[in-house]
Amino acid sequence: MKTVVVKCGGSVLKELSDSFFSSMKSLIADGYQIVFVHGGGPEINAMLEKMNVESEFKNGLRVTSKKVLEAAELVLSGSMNRKLVRMLEDHDIPAIGVQSSDQGILQADFINKEELGFVGDVTTVNKQALELFLQAGLLPVLTPIAKGPNGTVLNVNADHAAGAAAYALAADHLLMVTDVPGVLKDGELIPTLTATETNELIETGIISGGMIPKVNTALKALKSCGHVHIVSGKNPFYEDGKWDGTLFNKEETN
Ligand SMILES: Nc1ncnc2c1ncn2[C@@H]1O[C@H](COP(=O)(O)OP(=O)(O)OP(=O)(O)O)[C@@H](O)[C@H]1O
Ligand SMILES: [Mg+2]
Repeated sequence: MKTVVVKCGGSVLKELSDSFFSSMKSLIADGYQIVFVHGGGPEINAMLEKMNVESEFKNGLRVTSKKVLEAAELVLSGSMNRKLVRMLEDHDIPAIGVQSSDQGILQADFINKEELGFVGDVTTVNKQALELFLQAGLLPVLTPIAKGPNGTVLNVNADHAAGAAAYALAADHLLMVTDVPGVLKDGELIPTLTATETNELIETGIISGGMIPKVNTALKALKSCGHVHIVSGKNPFYEDGKWDGTLFNKEETN
């Protein structure tokens, strides 16, 4: 069966349109099995503000102290995951929320403890556990919180988590759903990008902030995953085998 890993941005989770879910259903009707990973950026920021803790990012990654980690886990597992599962079920897509640190569904190691704190990069995915859900006809919805070394729990950028899941599942498509129609330049959608073109856009500052881990994940995923797309969750993104947004292409070799 063909697999799509969908990363749903916290940026757009509350604004997912009915047409987005129609596209999801078209994918299912076309024989794709789907695994979701979600983020929670804006809600985590709001929670930290309430706690009088400043949000700090380095290259689009959230610097994560113990306090920030607790807030992130509360928001991701307690609120965002619940919302997304309910929205899927409201659209008749059977889903199940999965706390990714359980059963080492996602296992991670520190990226740079001094600079970023409790931020991890996924090292192992418990593929068997995910396949059990899929075999039962359930769409697993994963939080980007991973089991770390020595009893720790690590915050993983949700784009990175989705990339790791796509790699582990040998997914045919990695779809990153966000609050913009794809990678933009001067407000215009860029329909296709290669690694060279993407790196130029990062160097010139056209790609910045949260788009950086997203495109870096896209380029990494291209090595194992047939198709990588960034699309908006506010619109339909798929119909009759046609995908909207920015598609990442492997570099042409002469
Ligand atoms: N060239 C660009 N094209 C499009 N968006 C860009 C670009 N450069 C930076 N961005 C920003 O990247 C944002 C998307 O990344 P962001 O991390 O904020 O959202 P997300 O990953 O969907 O959500 P979350 O991080 O909560 O999972 C856009 O809203 C936009 O502000
Ligand atoms: Mg993001």
